[in-house]
Amino acid sequence: MKVAVIGGTGRMGKALAKQLSRNNKVIIGSRDAARAQAVAGGISGAVGMDYVGASTEADAALFAIPYSAIGEASALKKELSGKLAVSLINPLKLEDGVLAYSLDKGSAAEELAMLLPDSRISTAFNHVSFLFFERDEVTPIDILVAADSRQTYEETAGLVKGIPNLRPLYAGPLSQARAVEEMTAMVLNLAKLNGTGSLTTKFVSTRDSARH
Ligand SMILES: NC(=O)c1ccc[n+]([C@@H]2O[C@H](COP(=O)([O-])OP(=O)(O)OC[C@H]3O[C@@H](n4cnc5c(N)ncnc54)[C@H](OP(=O)(O)O)[C@@H]3O)[C@@H](O)[C@H]2O)c1
Repeated sequence: MKVAVIGGTGRMGKALAKQLSRNNKVIIGSRDAARAQAVAGGISGAVGMDYVGASTEADAALFAIPYSAIGEASALKKELSGKLAVSLINPLKLEDGVLAYSLDKGSAAEELAMLLPDSRISTAFNHVSFLFFERDEVTPIDILVAADSRQTYEETAGLVKGIPNLRPLYAGPLSQARAVEEMTAMVLNLAKLNGTGSLTTKFVSTRDSARH
């Protein structure tokens, strides 16, 4: 699959692009094509382009840009028509010394869906720090994916499963994206307040073998 990482020059975009390049042709997307090419040079098989070029070339796009820049997606409506668009975007703010969710209603993923009405939208990878993806071998992690259709979930899950040790879990329709995005504030606060280093999600099941 040809996957564009919009914001692929950033901390999260670059680290995830490296992992995705195991199974996909990665296109680093940047507002500045030269910057994209410089980053792509460090990732096996990757190329770098501006956002329009990357979106035109790709079968799917991941948005790893700040929430404040989400409006930039509207310029890619035509290029991403009929394609998968995955939001990694977390709208967060500092409040009383801890991180808090910054939207009164809705979610970044639902806003992305409004900006890209002809694309299939999901949210994924939101609350996994880039530090997990910078390692050669990623720690076993659950990736929560919200999407309105099972098909969109399965497409996103395919990208997730291409990275060893990641397990996709369906979190429900895009109306659940807010809960997924809010969890980012939770894991960041937990890590900071407890001095644990970066934390993320790995759920346990009653089907897991009990250890005594
Ligand atoms: N950092 C993490 O561990 C992590 C984990 C999960 C999700 N996320 C989410 O991923 C998104 C990016 O986070 P990040 O930590 O990777 O941020 P970052 O290092 O600042 O990178 C963001 C990238 O977005 C692009 N961008 C486009 N429009 C921009 C604008 N108006 N202002 C600034 N940058 C702009 C920039 O690329 P160009 O300038 O090259 O276009 C930049 O490289 C956020 O929504 C965050 O919540 C981050």
